Amino acid sequence: MFRKIAISAVSALVLSTGASFAAGEGGHTEDIAFSFEGPFGKFDEHQLQRGLQLYTEVCSACHGLKFVPLRSLSDEGGPHLPEDQVRAYATNYTAIDKDTGEERDALPTDNFPANTGAGAPDLSLMAKARAGFHGPYGLGINQLINGIGGPEHIYSILTGYTGEEKEEAGTTFYENHAFSTGWIAMPPPLMDDLITYQDGTPATVHQMAEDAAAFLMWTAEPKLMARKEAGFKAVVFLILLSTLLYLTNKRLWAGVKGKKHTA
Ligand code: HEC
Repeated sequence: MFRKIAISAVSALVLSTGASFAAGEGGHTEDIAFSFEGPFGKFDEHQLQRGLQLYTEVCSACHGLKFVPLRSLSDEGGPHLPEDQVRAYATNYTAIDKDTGEERDALPTDNFPANTGAGAPDLSLMAKARAGFHGPYGLGINQLINGIGGPEHIYSILTGYTGEEKEEAGTTFYENHAFSTGWIAMPPPLMDDLITYQDGTPATVHQMAEDAAAFLMWTAEPKLMARKEAGFKAVVFLILLSTLLYLTNKRLWAGVKGKKHTA
């Protein structure tokens, strides 16, 4: 019995080692100190608004965000745009009306459109789909210490171009040391001063890459702040409950424990 368990434990370790090597191949991920990391981290509303502007003006040409409802742009803890601005923003896009089957301006109740024209993946959940960091043997130790790694992966992709390109079977690939294979089909989307930020922040490649990564973390995990808050409340509640139970327990057994000495 014990030998069987030992053998399966060893083989599980060997298998997971192999898997983590496969997953960890290639791809250098920078560690960025995002505002939303750590137990008390919060999304920076202004950064999310810059990320939205960047997505709208640059990334949406090729990428969709089909799982993200437009109305969530007004969420507290998210970009927190006033509702009239969200209504105006929605008209940038079109949607197919469910009742009439005709095309109309998008409403806040619609999602961002999908976009598959350029063969680019949907970005809604990209920040959660890519791990970025791995610990030794796939244990996720690095994720515990350095954060989830998805937004860092996105930042690293956007800043990881070397300038080299090659053509293979009619497709151009760009060398990028953050991408798993080292060559990505996305042309470098950023260069300094590509856009003019509405809030006056200088649009350097690093600034835009951080803003895009933060915005895509929000699209992938829009309730991050609510979740952290609920978790914090639960911890406080459990500490109080444990203290009360401990005191109640002492009180209940006080008579019995006391008797032992008097006998
Ligand atoms: C000209 C079209 C185009 C534009 C503009 C563009 N992308 Fe891409 N993107 C692509 C394509 C194509 C891929 C798939 C690349 C591949 O798999 O080799 C991709 C892949 C990605 C990936 C996935 C990388 C991975 O690990 O698989 C991310 C993240 C990404 N893009 C982010 C962005 C962001 C953020 C912007 C805006 C700043 C942007 N892209 C603008 C075409 C584009």
